[in-house]
Amino acid sequence: MSMIELKKINKIYKTGDSETTVFRDFDLNIEEGSMTAIMGKSGSGKTTLLNILAGIDYPDSGEYLFDGNPVVLNKTSDGVKFRRNKIGMIVQHFALINEYSAFENVEMGLWESGLSSSEQKKKALEVMERLGIAGLKTKSPLVLSGGEKQRVAIARAIVCSPRIILADEPTGALDSDTENEILQILKDLNQNGSTIVVVTHDQEVASICSRTIILEKH
Ligand SMILES: Nc1ncnc2c1ncn2[C@@H]1O[C@H](COP(=O)(O)OP(=O)(O)OP(=O)(O)O)[C@@H](O)[C@H]1O
Ligand SMILES: [Mg+2]
Repeated sequence: MSMIELKKINKIYKTGDSETTVFRDFDLNIEEGSMTAIMGKSGSGKTTLLNILAGIDYPDSGEYLFDGNPVVLNKTSDGVKFRRNKIGMIVQHFALINEYSAFENVEMGLWESGLSSSEQKKKALEVMERLGIAGLKTKSPLVLSGGEKQRVAIARAIVCSPRIILADEPTGALDSDTENEILQILKDLNQNGSTIVVVTHDQEVASICSRTIILEKH
């Protein structure tokens, strides 16, 4: 059974007089344990798709099934409950909080977990050790390199042990060595059972995925 199914979803953004159709009767299946690349031109809806899968944004119509169960979310419903222990997100341009230390940024990934503060700290440290960034604990993202920031963002996404990791251009703007290291982290996570959906413009990233979906601009 698919972990995720989108059936004939439609998404139109309306701003003032203008309308942008992002998805028209769009279908998607994501199998448990798979690694899927999402490609497509700027504006084709890649980030919108990840936001819909994460329950941060919502289709206007169509169905979203997770483990075969309908996901019905809107502005007033509980997206936090839906995401808990399910979804880890690596957002475009990392979105780390500069006023927080690297450690606190990772801890943020557990704010919605319901765990006690001491459990959150323990898990945050464990995941930073696993990604080789425990030494950066007290640093502000402002002083971190691109690759280090990306590791912190990955740590924040995976600290809650999510079943699916949604990554929005995780290797954009990294040199090729660092890019390879980040790809290796994603590959290892996938081999350890995490389902991964990764947005990328990079053929090399797509080549390590089991499937590539190309979004068309409407
Ligand atoms: N909140 C919003 N309100 C209005 N229009 C939006 C909104 N979010 C996205 N759009 C529009 O929807 C389309 C898809 O945007 P999206 O961010 O999903 O593209 P993308 O494929 O991620 O592009 P990029 O590669 O540049 O990140 C764009 O035309 C964008 O302008
Ligand atoms: Mg985008």
